[in-house]
Amino acid sequence: MNYREEACAFAPVNIAIVKYWGKRNKILNLPVTDSLSLSLKVGTTTSLREGKEKDEIELNGKIVAPESSFYQRTVRFLDLVRPHPHFFFTLKTKNDIPTAAGIASSASGFAALTLAVNKFFQLDLTKKELSCLARRGSGSACRSIYPGFVRWQAGKLKDGSDSYAKPISDTWSDLRMGAILLSEEEKPVSSREAMARSVATSPLYPFWPTLVLQDMKKIVKSIRTKDFALFGQTAEHNALAMHATMHTAFPPVFYWLEKTVEVIQRVLHARQDGLQLFLTMHAGPNVKLLFLKKDESEVKKLFPQLLPLEIAWS
Ligand code: PMV
Repeated sequence: MNYREEACAFAPVNIAIVKYWGKRNKILNLPVTDSLSLSLKVGTTTSLREGKEKDEIELNGKIVAPESSFYQRTVRFLDLVRPHPHFFFTLKTKNDIPTAAGIASSASGFAALTLAVNKFFQLDLTKKELSCLARRGSGSACRSIYPGFVRWQAGKLKDGSDSYAKPISDTWSDLRMGAILLSEEEKPVSSREAMARSVATSPLYPFWPTLVLQDMKKIVKSIRTKDFALFGQTAEHNALAMHATMHTAFPPVFYWLEKTVEVIQRVLHARQDGLQLFLTMHAGPNVKLLFLKKDESEVKKLFPQLLPLEIAWS
C-alpha cells in the first residue's frame, strides 16, 4: 500500500441541535434516529506519520498513556485502516477546545483523523465514505465532515452503508451560538455509557424516537423559514428531553452542576422578559446558548463569561 510521509487534516466541532441518542448497533455506531447539527469554526487538527514499535499518540502536546480510554479508542479506530498488524502510526492531535468538556471534541477528533487517514494512504474516499468511516470512531463524528447544518440519516441497513451525514444547503447568517463553560474536567460518565444506560433503563427512552421524528420536522421547517422561535424551542426541548432520559436512567446520569441549573434558570427568566434566547446541551454540564445577531449585546450583558462559538458555513 502506498502512503505519504505525513498527512494533516482539520475537522470542525459540531453541536447537535437534534441529538443522536441511542444506538441500534454498538460496534458500527448505528443510531436509532436521524440527528442534525451545526459545525463550528473551531475543531481538531491531526497529523499522521508512520511510527515504529507501537502507535504513539500525542494530544495537545502531551503523550497519551496507552492505558487511557482515549488511546484505546483511537487504536481501535486505527485498526480499521492499518495495512497489516505491524504497521504503527505516530499521531499528533490538537483541539481548539477542551477535550471531553461536552463540546464534542471526539466528533472533530475522529473526523480529523479520518480525513488525515484518507490523505495519508491516498484513498480518495467520497464524502459519503468519509462520513461512514468517521462514524466508526464516534457516531457524531460522521457529521463533522461538513460545515454548516448537517443531517445524519440513521439508515436501515445492517452493514451501516446507508448511515451517513449529508449537508443541508441552507445557511443562517444571523444565527449566533455561544458556550457557558462551567467545567473543563473529564466527564465522570462517558457519553457512550450514558447513552447505553438511558436506552437500557430509562422508562422515557421508548418515546425518544417519536420525539426526534417530530423535532426533526420542526427544525428543518424552522431552518427553511428562518423561524428562530421554532428553532430555539425545538433545540432546547430536544436537549432537555435527552437529559431527562439520563436523569431517569438507573443508575441515573446527572451531568448538571448547581451552576448549570443557575444558567438554565437565567435563560428561562430572560425569555420571560422578552429576550429570544434558548439553550442546548451535550452530554455534559456546559450550556450552549442560541440567539440572533440583533440580541448579541443583550446576551453578553446577561452572560459576561459567554464564549462565542462561530459557526462555519463553508
Ligand atoms: O458520538 P458520541 O458517541 O460522542 O455521542 C454524542 C452524543 C451527543 O453529543 C450527546 C449528541 C450528539 O448528537 O452529538
